[in-house]
Amino acid sequence: MSITFDHSTKTFYLDGKGLTYAFFINDGGYPAHLYFGAPITHDDIRFTLAGGSGSFVPTPAGNDDTNLSYMRFLPEYGFYGTGDYREPAVLVENGGGDRLSDLLYVSHEVLPSKPRISGMPSLDGGETLVIHLADSVSGFRADLYYTVYDDASVITRRAVLTNDGSSPCALHRAFSFSLGLPSQDYSVITLHGSWAAERNIETIPMHHGVVSVDSKRCTSSATLNPFMGIIAKGTTETHGKAYGVNLVYSSSFVLKAEGTVGGDTVVSGGINDFDFRWILEAGESLETPEAVIAFSDEGIGGMSRAFHDAYRDHLISKKHVFTPRPIVINNWEATYFNFDIQKLKDIVDAVEGTGIDTLVLDDGWFGVRNNDRSGLGDWFVNTQKLSGGLAKIIQHVHSKGMRFGLWFEPEMVSEDSDLFRAHPDYAIGVPGRGRCYGRHQFVLDLTRADVRDYIVSSVNRVLSENAIDYVKWDYNRNVTDIYSLGREKERQSEFAHRYALGLYDICERIVNGNPNVFFEGCSGGGARFDPAMMYYFPQIWTSDDTDAEERTRIQYGTSIVYPLSTMSCHISAVPNHQTHRITPMSTRADIAHLGATGYELDTSAFTDGDRETVRLQIEEYKKYEQLVLRGDLYRIDSPFETPYFNEMIVSKDKSEAILCVYRRLSVPNAEPKRITLAGLDPSRLYRIEGLDITASGSTLMNVGIAIKYPKTDFWSEIYHITQAD
Ligand code: DGJ
Repeated sequence: MSITFDHSTKTFYLDGKGLTYAFFINDGGYPAHLYFGAPITHDDIRFTLAGGSGSFVPTPAGNDDTNLSYMRFLPEYGFYGTGDYREPAVLVENGGGDRLSDLLYVSHEVLPSKPRISGMPSLDGGETLVIHLADSVSGFRADLYYTVYDDASVITRRAVLTNDGSSPCALHRAFSFSLGLPSQDYSVITLHGSWAAERNIETIPMHHGVVSVDSKRCTSSATLNPFMGIIAKGTTETHGKAYGVNLVYSSSFVLKAEGTVGGDTVVSGGINDFDFRWILEAGESLETPEAVIAFSDEGIGGMSRAFHDAYRDHLISKKHVFTPRPIVINNWEATYFNFDIQKLKDIVDAVEGTGIDTLVLDDGWFGVRNNDRSGLGDWFVNTQKLSGGLAKIIQHVHSKGMRFGLWFEPEMVSEDSDLFRAHPDYAIGVPGRGRCYGRHQFVLDLTRADVRDYIVSSVNRVLSENAIDYVKWDYNRNVTDIYSLGREKERQSEFAHRYALGLYDICERIVNGNPNVFFEGCSGGGARFDPAMMYYFPQIWTSDDTDAEERTRIQYGTSIVYPLSTMSCHISAVPNHQTHRITPMSTRADIAHLGATGYELDTSAFTDGDRETVRLQIEEYKKYEQLVLRGDLYRIDSPFETPYFNEMIVSKDKSEAILCVYRRLSVPNAEPKRITLAGLDPSRLYRIEGLDITASGSTLMNVGIAIKYPKTDFWSEIYHITQAD
């Protein structure tokens, strides 16, 4: 990893694993993009600048030289009002009411290690380049941060915006980065979805104008993940150039890819500028969230592995990221709200000796909570259901050598709750109007310090008074009717970003405040599955849809950006509660084993045979758990495009792997399917357990193997592959 500045050409070269990123300071004093892609030597590559005619193209303010026109270069951080009509990264309303900015290079520095963003999660990292830009008239400043890595093919970008003028200014847009790509021959990949159908893959051709994904929900949401893939035409899962941008951010965001008049693409994004206006008093700064930008010339699969490496090595808690995860029995689908202490004990007693090591008591243990219409915010144990309090069930669980987990939804309040009756103003809403409901509940105003203090003290009280080992942190509706009683009217459009800052504040004080508790994220399934949440929650409930067939697509789509170890995946009952489909128990286990596995069914009804099945499943999972936590993912057949879901996880040293094969429906006269393996060392010898095949990596990856599918629907198998020489 290195950051180099060539004084003679004023070019910066950032060299990381498998990539070089280069830009220079042009004659006008603007940072101009030159290159981002596979590693190159440090040649003078300013010859790539187009230098078109410049007809009818505005020049920068006060300088009638078309050679300096913005349209002659790709911006490192676009700004507005002085002749660049492309999507700017920043739009600032100056004290006098104009919206111009002209951000020129002032200086740069290389910091020895990557500074944290105050109040927001970000990746850790080493040497970091900071480019200082300023507008000499208004005093507005932008500091651009760049970090590259030795062990992950990503670059991280963000900006810090400062009002160094003498009067307040207002930001109407405050993006984290601009990224220029010198072509429009791309497709854009997005991950869209909804409740129980998260992270479907959609591919859109790049065109003139803007392709964008966003959220206006004060959460990253299941609707569109804060991710955009930009892949060169012809790029496949295994070959070709793939770029990906992912925001370390959990509130309303936007990502844009603009096909420009010059035939280039400018990608930008960060905090959503829809309903956004942020006042900076003189001397104040706003730090933007981090963008992680991956590059691979090994196709979409290579891009995914770049993100996985970056998040495992530089974002997710080092304490948990590679540590075997709790094997959970969660009572939600077993009981929903209808349980008592005996039922929970029966669920726990039934799993003794199976390897399940944690009970997670889900929704309904607190306040008056027999359905989803009441009780949220009242974090006091419901002694009607749990006579003897939490202590009694915790003692029972601990006496079995298991850990105890508890569900919370800290950001919410029910209308029918003691908290709402005492503090109706804590709930987000516009005075004089009725509030919008979502799952019959309201969202607490996390932008207010007193509301955050209530949440932190009430959750931390339960955690300090009880021996709780695990918390599932849920979030079951999105913000609407945005308004905070805690802020003056000119600052109401700061809400969405302030919600994110409030959320990170309570996560710091609850998650980091309880270092011995393991925290899992959740949002009505997997609706807040983003890197900022991963900073606090090493694993996140991937979807409320636990049907194995549906999970093939949900988990495949999620793996485009996020490591398998971040996906919490449970084996549930059949007929499945969401789809009513019946899939084999072995398939439900195989698919759930491609993540942090667990169970979500009524174990109290287990037979001895069921118990033995579960014991063997967990024994099997433990054999390759480290591959799930640390390995490289190679997707082979996509369940979005084929009836198959075939993928491999290969250890970093390539001595071990698993191959998961799955076929949706049985067909008559089916020939065996040839599967060419991936990610192995061509020169080593491997043995595939269960198939009695021993062959070299080159044979397995070129000739492949033939899988004979039995005549049964939803059939799967996981084969363990070990080095044999
Ligand atoms: C939504 C979650 O995704 C479920 O797993 C469960 O915890 C419910 N909320 C409880 O209300």
